[in-house]
Amino acid sequence: MTRVRTAVLISGRGSNMAALVEAAKAPDYPAEIVLVISNRPEAGGLGIAAEHGIATEAIDHTEFDSRAAFEARVQEALDRHDIALVCLAGFMRILTEEFIARWNNAMINIHPSLLPAFKGLDTHQRVLDAGVRITGCSVHVVRPEMDTGPVIAQAAVPVVSDDDARTLAARVLEAEHRLYAYALELFASGRARVSGERIVIEDEPGAASALFSPPFPRPDQ
Ligand code: GAR
Repeated sequence: MTRVRTAVLISGRGSNMAALVEAAKAPDYPAEIVLVISNRPEAGGLGIAAEHGIATEAIDHTEFDSRAAFEARVQEALDRHDIALVCLAGFMRILTEEFIARWNNAMINIHPSLLPAFKGLDTHQRVLDAGVRITGCSVHVVRPEMDTGPVIAQAAVPVVSDDDARTLAARVLEAEHRLYAYALELFASGRARVSGERIVIEDEPGAASALFSPPFPRPDQ
């Protein structure tokens, strides 16, 4: 089996990147994580990747005059490592249309909400302010408009009454780690493919049951 040579772009902690690296240790996983790039040299995720023997590059965006110049340097690293698929994992830079076009249908992102709701930053506080009972996370194919694009997979996560942004973020993050590993598996294997602006999943294992939030107190309700 040839595995898809994959790069992960991060800006910080890198816990989603680490989840992808763990998943890709399975011999039958269809993607191989061969490069981790951070636009912030101090990103904790760079150390985690290096500990796993993965090539890392810190490409400090503040050292470039323009977005295009920064991206040209990123592209050079991706080319040098013969990358076929890019995963954004907490990568907090806006990318140009040109870069996104170069990676059309070959770049995916994780966002900590049930898209298209709550795009952008400060997601969990806005979820709480909106008073919803279910939030979640989404992995999607990247399109030029921020946090849009065909959704590969989503997880629904309950909001509870005494949540604050921190407790909610932690609950969603646990789901993110599992979701991203699964979504990358589906996408890299070709089982999830773009059709129009939707994702079609081959051999989809039916539908999961509904998530009720708050949960019913009795199992027969
Ligand atoms: C994750 O929660 C990810 O979904 C979010 O940043 C966090 C990165 O954590 N991404 C965005 O908000 C992108 N719009 P990590 O560095 O530990 O993976």
